[in-house]
Parts: sequence; structure tokens; C-alpha cells
Amino acid sequence: MDINDKTIIRTSLKPGALLKSRASLDPRTSLDYRPRAKAFPRHAGQTAVSPGTASPVDRNRNKVIEIVTVPYLTDITANRKNVGIELDVPAVQEILSGYYHDVSITQINTQKDLELLAARRPDLVFSGVKYFNFGGQDLWLNDFLDLHGIAYIASGKAALDNEHDKARAKRIMQQANIATARYFQTAPGEHPTAASVPIAFPLFVKPVTGGDSRGVDANSVVHDFESFRRKVLDIHETQNSRALVETYLSGREYSVGILEDATNGTLRAMPIEIIAAPNQNGDRILDYDIKKQDAETVEMVTDMAIHARLGDLAKAAFRALDGKSLGRIDIKMSHDNVPHFIEANLMPGLRKGYFYRGCLLNLNMSYEEMILKIAENGLAVSVPRPGGYETETSEPVIAARKMNAEMFVDGF
Ligand SMILES: Nc1ncnc2c1ncn2[C@@H]1O[C@H](COP(=O)(O)OP(=O)(O)O)[C@@H](O)[C@H]1O
Ligand SMILES: [Mg+2]
Repeated sequence: MDINDKTIIRTSLKPGALLKSRASLDPRTSLDYRPRAKAFPRHAGQTAVSPGTASPVDRNRNKVIEIVTVPYLTDITANRKNVGIELDVPAVQEILSGYYHDVSITQINTQKDLELLAARRPDLVFSGVKYFNFGGQDLWLNDFLDLHGIAYIASGKAALDNEHDKARAKRIMQQANIATARYFQTAPGEHPTAASVPIAFPLFVKPVTGGDSRGVDANSVVHDFESFRRKVLDIHETQNSRALVETYLSGREYSVGILEDATNGTLRAMPIEIIAAPNQNGDRILDYDIKKQDAETVEMVTDMAIHARLGDLAKAAFRALDGKSLGRIDIKMSHDNVPHFIEANLMPGLRKGYFYRGCLLNLNMSYEEMILKIAENGLAVSVPRPGGYETETSEPVIAARKMNAEMFVDGF
């Protein structure tokens, strides 16, 4: 999960509220958005439709959605490796219920619970769970749902595997010709002398897997062999992890939200700049304490050329990793202002963190719209069925096509 991801301040969702937010769009924010005649056509179905004459959009409201969770932890900042997105479940249910008629919450405690879920065959599972552990065995939720032909909201296991190991993600970037800092992996003793270090200082040292900047602090920036050796040892001892060592990127930092239009596969990129105050050494890095204390500021990317470059890189990275529906790509500039891929989050936090702020600052998208768009994306994806591949186009797709699919135009 993201510790930067803020808890939602609950607002009651009034009918029609979703229609309004785009009307107040500030044109200065609209790098990635073109004003359109009608706001959010998907909600056309929310206006009065007499029974029996329902539009395709209206019929879609009958979809059955289950929000799937694992037993709740009282400490919401606890690091649960098997949960990719810590959802604010009551808020998500309230939002989805504002549009869909049948939205329930299912807590999975046992494999039996999961089998019962499969038997109910909901149209969509809305969940941030990556895997369950039943009797010592990991069972990946999205793999399980694929097997049963049930749609879900984010990437499948193969893409999550690509993203989880940062060295693997970087290798995939290199193969796709996407800029990423030079790197190698190490552990204490593997690079025992200054001469054995294969790339030039300054370097950046962090755990090869993980999130929330765990294991990242001011000592991650190393200028000499002795500080390199110390940080590799620290990561080994405190994070129980191998170290990923990269060329230090000293420029500005960005995170680019990606929302796919599952109806036609186009991607929308929503960059934000994240600014951390310089640390005691003058380096600006998003370390664990900064994220935890919420000490960074988030800004719009107003330079159109940079916006476009970040968007292109993030979309290419998302595709190379085989991401689906949504994600966030972290990018940092080198000293000479060339954007470099740092890492991807294919289960980005869905509270009020970087992903939401990307939606808000780029598209003026409300939190409710964001959650509904993610559900709609999930529902629009063709899922493999046990008896072959489902090719049927879902109702929102038909409706969106009729309305000229104006919500998503791949502008960058
Ligand atoms: N090669 C690098 N050069 C400079 N800073 C980096 C580099 N890699 C990571 N960072 C800094 O460390 C932070 C955390 O690294 P990241 O790989 O994104 O880990 P996490 O998964 O914990 O978010 C980044 O947001 C960035 O500020
Ligand atoms: Mg990151």
C-alpha cells in the first residue's frame, strides 16, 4: 500500500453530484483534457428513464459488484505484502452504490469463502488484495478470478510480477528502449572493493523490492565505496533484502497516473510533480519519513513539453509491463533533465494519494468519478471464460461508443 495515500474525508454522495464536477473545470488544468459538449455521458442513465425503456447505460446498473477484502487491521499503515491497495471500503461501497444497484462487501477468511464467491459469479470483483494464504499456500486472487471468468479491477499476476521486482521492471524497460538509470544488484560481500563496483558514483541504494520508501533514507545517496558498503549492509540487516544500486538521478521527481479506457485500450497519462524538501545533504528524495509525515508537496506539471514526455514514457512503461486498467509510474529526471523510469505501481493506492491527485490535477476528476471509472474499466474488460475467450462487448462499451467515446481520447 501507499503510506502517502490519504484517508478519505467522507462526503455524502448526492444524486447528480457526479455530473457536476466537470462543469467547474479550470481550463488551465486541462493539459490532458479537452472540453466536451456533455459532461460524463456515462451518467446519462441516471436521469429519469421509465421502467422497461432502460438505455444500455441504465441496464448496466444491474451489474453485481462484490468488494472483496481480507480481515481488517486496526493499523492502516501496517505493511501487508498481500494487499496491493488498501481500500476505504465503506467509501467505495457508498460511491459504487450511487450508480450500481447491487454492491456488497465480502470478507474472505477461508478458501471456502473464495469458492462461494466464485459460485455467486459477480460481474466484477473490486479489490486490492493480491493473494491469500490458505494453509501455507499463496492463492493469487486475480489468477483465481481469471480461472472463473470473473472480472477484476487492476492488473493480473503476470504484470504484478513484472512490477514487484524493481530490477526485473528495469530490465523490461531496457528491452523496450525506455530510459532507466544504470543498475546492478548486490548484497554484503558481493562487491567487496571499490574497483568491483560496476557503475560510477554517485549511486542510489534501495531494497530491490518493496514500497512506501522502506529502506530509503538520506544514506541511500552514496558518493564513495565506504558509504555504499554501509547502506548495502543496512538494507540487508533492516529490510532483509538484496540491494538495487542505480545511478543517482538528481533532477525533479514525478509520478504519472495511468488510466486505461478498457473499451478501446487507449491510455490516459496524468503526471504530477512531487517535491520533497532537500535533506541534510541537499538531496531531494522521497524517503520513508517524508512520505510518512506527508512532508512532500504535489503540483501540476504545467510545462506542456515535459507533460507530454512524462506521459509518453509512463504509457510505454505501463504497456511494457503488461499493465491493465490503472497504475502509476514513478519517474525522476537525471541531472540533465532526461526523464528516467524509477518503478511502477500497478496497484496504486486508491485513497487520496498520488493516483487520485493525478486524476484531480489533470482531469479535474472527482474521487467518486475515479472510483466509478475504475469499476467501469473492470466491467468492460473481456475476461477469459473456462469455455473460451469472452468477446462480448459490455453495455457501457456500447453506450460509450454510441456517445462517441468522448470520455477517453488518447491525446498524448
Ligand atoms: N536512482 C535514483 N536516483 C535518485 N533517487 C531515487 C532513485 N531511485 C529512487 N529514488 C528516490 O527514492 C524514492 C523511493 O524509491 P522507489 O523505487 O520509488 O521506492 P518505493 O517503492 O518505496 O516508492 C523515490 O521516490 C525517489 O525519491
Ligand atoms: Mg515509488
